[in-house]
Amino acid sequence: MISIMQEQAPQALNSQLRPETWDEYIGQQSIKDNLHILLTAAQNRGQQPEHLLFYGPPGLGKTTLSYLIAKEIGRNIKTTSGPAIEKVGDLASILTNLSEGDVLFIDEIHRLNKNIEEVLYPAMESGFLDIIIGKGPSARTIQLDLPPFTLIAATTKIAMLSAPLRSRFSGGTFKLEFYTNEEMETIIHQSAAKLGIRIDTDAAREIAIRSRYTPRTANYFLKRVRDFADVHNKAINKDTVLESLSLIGVDEIGLHQNDRDILNTIIDKFNGGPVGLRTLAIATHEEKDTLESVVEPYLVQLGLVELTSRGRVATEKAYAHLGKK
Ligand SMILES: Nc1ncnc2c1ncn2[C@@H]1O[C@H](COP(=O)(O)OP(=O)(O)O)[C@@H](O)[C@H]1O
Ligand SMILES: [Mg+2]
Repeated sequence: MISIMQEQAPQALNSQLRPETWDEYIGQQSIKDNLHILLTAAQNRGQQPEHLLFYGPPGLGKTTLSYLIAKEIGRNIKTTSGPAIEKVGDLASILTNLSEGDVLFIDEIHRLNKNIEEVLYPAMESGFLDIIIGKGPSARTIQLDLPPFTLIAATTKIAMLSAPLRSRFSGGTFKLEFYTNEEMETIIHQSAAKLGIRIDTDAAREIAIRSRYTPRTANYFLKRVRDFADVHNKAINKDTVLESLSLIGVDEIGLHQNDRDILNTIIDKFNGGPVGLRTLAIATHEEKDTLESVVEPYLVQLGLVELTSRGRVATEKAYAHLGKK
């Protein structure tokens, strides 16, 4: 079956770094607390945990959480994604192939077609599937009972989910937050230990403050720093971090050239804003979606951009960071 992927063979390094226990999963304490209660209560009652929705910018740990949950309840996880489910039949075959107790993980669920989404409603709510067999006047509907399962969905764009779909995540909807610098440092030390990299406290701190409060970015930077140190036969300290990250165009607050281009565009072409998302996307040759769910959350978190009802505005901090005005 095409639409069920095993977790797309992530490069060995990435899967090596993925937390495999709750202790390794740093931060997001309130989500962990809530999940602990939800999973324990379900287990005590001998019930299947209810459906869960995770949202937030990429790289914050949504997929990792879903795997941890499956592991916690001792069940298999089957993974797919919104864009991989092209036809109603794809979803029907995924659902009918579930075994009792399975976790079904749907990534990027905001990209699921509306007509496919409707097939999910009864499956999530009442555990059955309406299938239409045949075409034209002889077509008939049969109802299939599904085994109990837990749907875990992830999205970077919660606003694109319809209200009926959102309401069916009866176990809860959880927003992943950006990590603190302290949490980022802990994650970097943990990843370094897993990869057998020696790194001092200063170096970890310097990587942390450039990592966009995002574990995936921190791990990526750590690997780039290690490459640089290996090639130049240097130890990993503050200097190697600064040198290697500036080599890949990352500045002291974690902005890439791309981020700076976007800020410069708001300031130079639109007088600091406000500028609408569409206009900004066209002016910067970025995709609207990427701007909104990948680039902007971090710029907003840093206080470089404000989202107003009339559009994006560059703050004084943005001017200062770029040395303008
Ligand atoms: N809470 C965490 N603690 C430690 N490492 C984390 C945490 N969350 C994410 N990571 C790291 O970041 C990587 C990306 O996380 P992932 O779950 O794939 O993010 P998302 O699905 O939200 O895009 C993981 O492989 C893992 O190495
Ligand atoms: Mg993911």
